[in-house]
Amino acid sequence: MKSVNPLLGRTLAVADDLSVDEQRYLYRKTRALKEAWANGGDLEPYRIRDPELGVYLMFLEDSTRTKESFRNAASFHDVKLNVFDASTSSFTKSESLVDTVKMLFGYSRRSIFVMRTKMEGVCRALEEQIGAYADRLGRERPVFINGGDGRHEHPTQEYLDQFTFLEQKNWDESYLHVALIGDLHHGRTIHSKADGLKAFRSVKVDLVAPEELSLPTSYKLRMMDNGFEVREWASIDEYLSAGDVSDTWYFTRLQLERMGDEVRERETELRRAVTFRDQFLDRLPEMTRFFHPLPRHREKPVIPSFLDTTTLNGWDEQSINGYFTRIIELAMVAGRLGEDFRGESPAEDEDDESFITEIPVTRKTDVKDRFKVGIKPVTAGTVIDHIAKGKPEEEIWNRVDKVRRTLKLNVRSSHGVFHTNNPEEFKGIVSLPDILEISHTELKKLAAVSPECTLNIIRDSSVIKKYRLSMPPKIYKFSEISCKNPECVTFPGAYQHVQPFFYRTGGETFTCRYCGKRHAYGDIWDI
Ligand code: NCD
Repeated sequence: MKSVNPLLGRTLAVADDLSVDEQRYLYRKTRALKEAWANGGDLEPYRIRDPELGVYLMFLEDSTRTKESFRNAASFHDVKLNVFDASTSSFTKSESLVDTVKMLFGYSRRSIFVMRTKMEGVCRALEEQIGAYADRLGRERPVFINGGDGRHEHPTQEYLDQFTFLEQKNWDESYLHVALIGDLHHGRTIHSKADGLKAFRSVKVDLVAPEELSLPTSYKLRMMDNGFEVREWASIDEYLSAGDVSDTWYFTRLQLERMGDEVRERETELRRAVTFRDQFLDRLPEMTRFFHPLPRHREKPVIPSFLDTTTLNGWDEQSINGYFTRIIELAMVAGRLGEDFRGESPAEDEDDESFITEIPVTRKTDVKDRFKVGIKPVTAGTVIDHIAKGKPEEEIWNRVDKVRRTLKLNVRSSHGVFHTNNPEEFKGIVSLPDILEISHTELKKLAAVSPECTLNIIRDSSVIKKYRLSMPPKIYKFSEISCKNPECVTFPGAYQHVQPFFYRTGGETFTCRYCGKRHAYGDIWDI
């Protein structure tokens, strides 16, 4: 059921879980709270005050700022606060995360879980699994807030970063030119920027990182899909030499704990490429500010400590903003704020059925004419036509093979690669005289395996119905698909039994619903 307050009960697994309008609402409320706090104003309108609302901090990976700011924000609200300590719990006995969350959920009338784990996509999986459990019990669904999941996303850091940039730009949201510097490969605070930066209407992003630390293509593509201008350099030195330098620099540390040995061996050289040096100072635009999600490396920080007392220092205020933004985030998802929200919420899922289009059969086509070359015509049955039309012959054969195996077409039939009407072009055909009907699930499988094929239903040697299939907007519930990210919650053994689920994104790419990894269409299949 849809609540009146669209923010109530919302899980924040990725930056995009709040629409741009909702994020701007968060920034406006945070600004007002911060001002009231500084001026001794009334803070009551922001306070939840519900002793039966449990805020559970579950940090299974180290954290200082995220954990402490959430702990302080929860204390501000006068709610029940539990800090779950993984190191002394049954986690060391391989206890299941779902069992632990269920138990804690049982202790409060309403609950908000703030999670930090290595498992990418865990909040989305918990939202579904514990949500269904709550539905069975007839209880309010719990909220999950992602405090950083592996290399994936860190939405609440993203919101505090955007808030800080806006504060810095005097609340002008028309344009942001930002440089992202450091470990763009492993840094989840960077990955969340691919969507989070949409808070600005026009965005130019300069990526500064050597190849080994460069931003994964998935996120680069997402930035481009979002209309950002994206440019790249391999080091700070190169960037400064190119001209048109940003006045907003966002640094991240080298995430050595997530790197393989090969990359780690080159640490000194990689670190040098993204570490600021004093000879760069006079090449910076006026009023430049540096930001950093922190922590900084004690001995070898990418922002050296001699800059702490200069006007470049934007990171101290940024880190304090974590407290204020998180107070508002908790108030929003607990329904304390949001009644006065006006604007759009995230779009609902696309219609699942849009992949089948019936094409009118204008004249009763004689099957013998249409499928005569090299394939036995059928008098009654099904012909799958236009398989991988226009692709190289080898690819068409592979696709025909995939169609046969996925749909388990072990029946009397024939198939092959044939010319289309154009003598330069080929397509695959599978002719199935014994199959008079294809179920909806099988159709979906067929559309997923061989988009753009047509399906001809034949009776009395005539095509009586014809369908064109296209890439489905979602591919799920097939045993033949899997996400290829070993850190994803859907990866066997990573978590517990989460079915792979992909959304179609730009072109023929499919993005994992959980960990956000973008796959080329063929890569999601295990056959
Ligand atoms: C970041 C994180 O944990 O992703 N820190 C933070 O939340 N303030 C960045 C990092 O670990 O480098």
